[in-house]
Amino acid sequence: MIVRRGRSEDLPWLFEHDDASEAWIKRCIEFGEYFVAVQNGELVGFLRFSRFWGKIPYMDMIRVLPSYRREGVGTALFHAWESAMIEEGAQHLMTSSEWAEAEPQAWHRRNGFKAVGSIDLRIVQPSPEIFFVKDISGAGKG
Ligand SMILES: CC(C)(COP(=O)(O)OP(=O)(O)OC[C@H]1O[C@@H](n2cnc3c(N)ncnc32)[C@H](O)[C@@H]1OP(=O)(O)O)[C@@H](O)C(=O)NCCC(=O)NCCS
Repeated sequence: MIVRRGRSEDLPWLFEHDDASEAWIKRCIEFGEYFVAVQNGELVGFLRFSRFWGKIPYMDMIRVLPSYRREGVGTALFHAWESAMIEEGAQHLMTSSEWAEAEPQAWHRRNGFKAVGSIDLRIVQPSPEIFFVKDISGAGKG
């Protein structure tokens, strides 16, 4: 399996599998804000990020095709992103997920994230959004 940054030729696949507008996907590809996993020449998963306050790397979405889950693809995507963020000097990573979705939360915790609070987003979803932070400030040293 290969993990690399998303490229313009990935646009149709990302548009099919990500929950974002084509314009936003294009923009994220241009800004290097996608990582994709490739197996036998086929795309099988992606990670899309942005930056909270325009500064702190924020994982907006990670998704692996159902038939490829629990084979280490998500972990490989996460590690590629984390390493790239350490490389550019980031001190923290952020992400969030809906309180009612226990599985993504367990997965975030497994990757070293700690829950730091939640906000009431009932205007857009039934349960609160929980925010997670991972301290990577020591990771680039030594
Ligand atoms: C969450 C997701 C990205 C994980 O990807 P994955 O490729 O299946 O994960 P991995 O195979 O790398 O998992 C690594 C470890 O986490 C465990 N794990 C995988 N999915 C898990 C889950 N949903 N909950 C708890 N643990 C999980 C695996 O058992 C594995 O542990 P092990 O090495 O001890 O066996 C994938 O399940 C997915 O696409 N889910 C739907 C979208 C989603 O919920 N995204 C997250 C919120 S944006």
